[in-house]
Amino acid sequence: MTSLGSKSFGFEFDPPLILASGILDQTAESMERLIRGGMGGVVTKSIGMKARGGHSNPTVVELDTGLLNAMGLPNPGIDSYIEELVALKSKAKNTPLIGSIFASDPHDFAFLAEKMVLNGADIVELNLSCPHAEGYGASIASEPDLMAEVIEEVKSTIDEPILAKLPPSSLIAEKAKVAEKSGADGIVCINTVKAMAINFETRTPILGNKVGGYSGPGIKPIGLRCVFEVYSATEIPIIGCGGITTGRDALEYLSAGASAVQVGTAIRSRGKEAPQKIADEMKELMERERISDLSEVIGKAHECAVK
Ligand SMILES: Cc1cc2nc3c(=O)[nH]c(=O)nc-3n(C[C@H](O)[C@H](O)[C@H](O)COP(=O)(O)O)c2cc1C
Repeated sequence: MTSLGSKSFGFEFDPPLILASGILDQTAESMERLIRGGMGGVVTKSIGMKARGGHSNPTVVELDTGLLNAMGLPNPGIDSYIEELVALKSKAKNTPLIGSIFASDPHDFAFLAEKMVLNGADIVELNLSCPHAEGYGASIASEPDLMAEVIEEVKSTIDEPILAKLPPSSLIAEKAKVAEKSGADGIVCINTVKAMAINFETRTPILGNKVGGYSGPGIKPIGLRCVFEVYSATEIPIIGCGGITTGRDALEYLSAGASAVQVGTAIRSRGKEAPQKIADEMKELMERERISDLSEVIGKAHECAVK
């Protein structure tokens, strides 16, 4: 029997496929639909202290190799979002629910984390990596002292596991070490890659915000490299993310060192049944390789890696 179960932070992810933040996770109903479609866990949309409208249109550009978005973290604010969390928890009791939060200072992060866990989140994901929201996200991960303070404050406020979601960077291993030392229980890498699109005819940037975040198949090699480096530098579990579209992609991330993976843009290209399709492909490939358990896969790319 081929098993796709993977345990991290005291939770079983089976399959080890988790809905990435920001994709069809505004409501309990849409997240529940994806759980029914085979997700082994879900991350909520990143939620902040107050309602936020996000950037002006256009906010999304379709590319041949993925998607460029500059949504700007639109969200209803924690007080309104709570009802979605509570509703989802009552319907999907056995699926780990990860609450994603963003803020500009340690105190607000801790406040949001506490609200998330009091209302049903099993795990909290700190969005330290949005590339297109000034003062939030990647701006925090770019300041190691501030990032450390944020994680320490959240750690001293809640007992539940904390994930630090990091931006792609040539210094990702250093950032992950700071996160681990500050109390993070896991690392999520990567968020979207800061990027832009230009319309030559009008000689103007296409996105309303000019720059945005690149996701989908084109960023998979960057995500793989980040997971590989973080695995060598830290002892805590890694959740891989970035361009995972097929079962083979997911298994490549696990080989690089991820214990589970998040899937985002692939939901657009493969539909709400994407998780089931990806899980079936993982099983097929594992059976072909005579692998019965993911422990035979996780981190294995390191054993024969060229130093
Ligand atoms: C439209 C869109 C909205 C997103 N919103 C968020 C968000 O609110 N918080 C967050 O941490 N990441 C957000 N992301 C990033 C994804 O969670 C993920 O890290 C990234 O898209 C890479 O994975 P993928 O290639 O599987 O999509 C968003 C991505 C997209 C495409």
